Amino acid sequence: MTKYRRADPEISRRKFINVALGTAGAVGGLGLVTALAGVRPPNRITFAKLPAVDGDILVHAEGPNNGLPIKVADLNDKITRAWPQGKDNKGNTVIKKDEPNNLLIIYKFPVAELVAPTDLKGTDQGVVAYSGICQHLGCQVGDNASKPETILCPCHSGAYDPRAGCKVIGGPPPKPLPQLPIKLDGDGVMATAPLEGPYFGLTDSDWKALLEEAKTL
Ligand code: FES
Repeated sequence: MTKYRRADPEISRRKFINVALGTAGAVGGLGLVTALAGVRPPNRITFAKLPAVDGDILVHAEGPNNGLPIKVADLNDKITRAWPQGKDNKGNTVIKKDEPNNLLIIYKFPVAELVAPTDLKGTDQGVVAYSGICQHLGCQVGDNASKPETILCPCHSGAYDPRAGCKVIGGPPPKPLPQLPIKLDGDGVMATAPLEGPYFGLTDSDWKALLEEAKTL
């Protein structure tokens, strides 16, 4: 994986609208073509692009354990990158890595270090997860070597506090990295809900629509 890169612009709101238009096409001009062909157009959003939802497990997104479930023992106070992995409606296990904005970061801190506005109910024994994509222009965030208690976005020096709900503490990001509520599942980590807000590039209404779409695949 390229360590720092902008999120695929296709993942932006424009793409989501295109997806919606694809669906709308079934009743519009494209629908006419499709009706003539006797088939419904394939839904352009695939399970591997859907966001994390309740029950997804988190798997490594890089390194020697790439694609394997994250174990609590793997975690520490530095960033571990992860993808959500779920089961589609056919029971297939799918890593949701076709959507770059699904990238997550996970930490394990001493419990007492996690403070508001972290959603403590969405943490477990100091394990906390967030979107790994900067809310400014969609770069991957990373550890800050010169100020290790913070997250640094290398593109424009955006900074976040991972012990305090990933609130913005520097630079241009307009809002915190959304938290992914999790719980420990044996020695692994499981999402208990979707991200608590839209990832980079989506409005609140687009995010809600995407979560509705996620229920259908
Ligand atoms: S993309 Fe992160 S600070 Fe600009």
